[in-house]
Amino acid sequence: MKFFIKNYGCQMNLYDSEIMTDILSTAGYIMCDNVDEADILLFNTCSIREKADEKLFSDLGRAKSIKFKKQDLGKECLIIVCGCVAQAKASTIFERVPYVDAVLGPQEIGNIAIVVNSLLEQRKNNEYPHILMRDLNTRNKFATLKSTQITKRGFSEFLTIQEGCNNFCTYCVVPYTRGREFSRDAKDIINEAKRMISLGVKEITLLGQNVNSYNGEGTDGKTWSLDRLLYAMAEIDGLVRLKYITSNPKDITENIAKAHRDIDILVPFLHLPIQSGSDFILKKMNRKYSTDKYLYSIDLLRQYRADMAFSSDFIVGFPEESDKDFEDTLKIADKVRFAQAYSFKYSPREGTMAAKMNNQVPEKIKSERLEILQNILNNHQNEFNRNTIGKTVSVLFTKYGKFKNQLVGRSEYSQAVSICDSSIKIGDIAHVKITDIKSHSLVGIIEKK
Ligand code: SAH
Ligand code: SF4
Ligand code: F3S
Repeated sequence: MKFFIKNYGCQMNLYDSEIMTDILSTAGYIMCDNVDEADILLFNTCSIREKADEKLFSDLGRAKSIKFKKQDLGKECLIIVCGCVAQAKASTIFERVPYVDAVLGPQEIGNIAIVVNSLLEQRKNNEYPHILMRDLNTRNKFATLKSTQITKRGFSEFLTIQEGCNNFCTYCVVPYTRGREFSRDAKDIINEAKRMISLGVKEITLLGQNVNSYNGEGTDGKTWSLDRLLYAMAEIDGLVRLKYITSNPKDITENIAKAHRDIDILVPFLHLPIQSGSDFILKKMNRKYSTDKYLYSIDLLRQYRADMAFSSDFIVGFPEESDKDFEDTLKIADKVRFAQAYSFKYSPREGTMAAKMNNQVPEKIKSERLEILQNILNNHQNEFNRNTIGKTVSVLFTKYGKFKNQLVGRSEYSQAVSICDSSIKIGDIAHVKITDIKSHSLVGIIEKK
């Protein structure tokens, strides 16, 4: 039987979808890219903003017609909702969409093959149960993963080293959907990285919602912080690029900055979400850092590695955000000049503190502020990209382009770079001299391999 996975949300979900692919493939199911051909439809969902939730329910409408069409032909079709919406809205999903067969929270995905097997088995007896699994025990999830075979990977892959979050930023659902922070043992992480590399992976991005508070058991039995793990990862043969995401500014230490100085394969690029440039709003968000601490962290990293660049996340229109608070956000964006940034309108999430706060900002003001901020952030990104023209950057090529001999890859700063060169193949890392800039990518020529 064939399965199809639709993925929403962050890198952690992408990793989870790969794991489910591994588990189901190992159990004999076949992955397919075409939803109409699939017998098992999996939706790995995100609940971070309201739009993400809505998207799921509209996609489930389409899934229903696929299911009913198959049933008319006498075939089975399972619909399974996994991920963060599954955790947050389990009962609502079954109420609103009764033809969903199973709902699995993000820490339950290790059970995906058991659930599919059991649903199919019960159908033989004309039983059509709803299965609901939403335990938040992260330890179980990773114990299952240990015994799973990795089936297929690309050149650039994610590897979750830490699950959950203890920060409880007042706007955020993640602590509720993924549970408490849990760091995996370094031994398991290193083994998984080695298995990935043996399948051709060149670049690994270590994942956690609060990755720089990693504190797992090291291979020496002591507790390791993230910097210690980065040094150990750098020793793995065949790994050519290392990244980690997402860092919280409150946890940037001098040792992390030193790791950026010492480790060649660690990219000089860091995603460091700031959310707001107003200390009053940061406090209301419970972010536990001030704008001074944020700017200090950036300086610290640049002190140890001069070519560091940064990307960030912003939220506009958080409750009580005044024109002055918003201006402070614009000011800090101007000061740091991010190489890349994502910005969002604040979206109230059920069950979070901020959703109950007074003085919610009207939608119209949120939209106006978002547009102003995005224009500025785009200008900074364009400026950063323009500054690359004439420079030589290291590029990992991951796919072929539309034109003859064209390859597309990413620089260490996550910029898309394309070249036309028959001497390079995907999976190669090469030095590229940037000659031009197109709307979505940089263009260059190979300097040396
Ligand atoms: N753990 C990371 C990222 C969490 S989610 C961190 O602490 O930064 C990714 C981004 O989504 C956040 O950085 C934030 O900018 C945005 N986000 C989270 N909850 C949101 C909400 N309720 N409304 C709008 N944006 C939100
Ligand atoms: Fe959410 Fe804050 Fe945790 Fe990030 S650090 S996942 S924003 S609670
Ligand atoms: Fe979304 Fe869950 Fe990730 S809410 S951003 S999929 S942790």
